[in-house]
Amino acid sequence: MDRATTGIKGLDKLIGGGIPRNHSVLLTGSCGTGKTILSLQFLHQGAVAREPGLYVTFEESRDKILSQACEFGWDLEKLEREGLLEVYVVETFDMEDVLESIKEKVRKLKARRLVIDSLTVMLEHGVVYHSRISKEMSAVSGEKRVFKFPEEGHNITRKDIYFVVKEINKLNTTSLLISEVAEKSEYLSRDTISEFACDGVILLRTSELGGEIERLLSVRKMRGTEVQITLSPMKFTKDGIIVE
Ligand SMILES: Nc1ncnc2c1ncn2[C@@H]1O[C@H](COP(=O)(O)OP(=O)(O)OP(=O)(O)O)[C@@H](O)[C@H]1O
Ligand SMILES: [Mg+2]
Repeated sequence: MDRATTGIKGLDKLIGGGIPRNHSVLLTGSCGTGKTILSLQFLHQGAVAREPGLYVTFEESRDKILSQACEFGWDLEKLEREGLLEVYVVETFDMEDVLESIKEKVRKLKARRLVIDSLTVMLEHGVVYHSRISKEMSAVSGEKRVFKFPEEGHNITRKDIYFVVKEINKLNTTSLLISEVAEKSEYLSRDTISEFACDGVILLRTSELGGEIERLLSVRKMRGTEVQITLSPMKFTKDGIIVE
């Protein structure tokens, strides 16, 4: 199987060399566990190997992302100029269709890697719901319709989640979909469904031992791959994340 290396040797070793190409992997963990940094490392690794990547963020500013990457020596702006990367900050939810914009950018960039930071926010803002309903309405009426629905009161359904994962899978990118969970949650995502819809799940967490906090990574699922289910220590170095 053709695989996309993550740039984190210890992680690649756990998953048979990398993430199977065109799979969507849920990267989940509570706040500050390293989801954003790991996903930027994945895109940086791809870009230097001349595999263009798209980073989609719903909540962080462009400057914060660029300077965070800079701390590890990753010059994202240079990669952008070379057409190997794009940081897409979704600024409004009052848009025709965020999924359509992602599709268009992937096509233009010839992106082979994609990060959505985060799937949780994307689902919660009803972007997916609007897109799905708009598509269904357009199909029925035979003309493009944009359906907008009050965000309050809409619960994310299994149908919404499978819809977005299916749309992302159609892009033919190897994708990291970031999922936010509460610190001591027994689930792998807040919606408790995303982990089933994705091809793989990587969990980041911390553990307290004798007053010290340790960062841990575990691969909970990776379709088509023999996975070593372990809790591997994860560290930040000046060059990025390492997994031991
Ligand atoms: N240069 C660095 N060296 C060491 N650790 C760092 C460095 N930069 C950030 N960190 C650590 O990484 C943590 C944040 O990582 P990251 O932003 O990837 O987490 P996250 O899981 O995306 O968090 P959130 O859910 O809040 O978005 C910080 O809390 C900090 O402890
Ligand atoms: Mg983050």
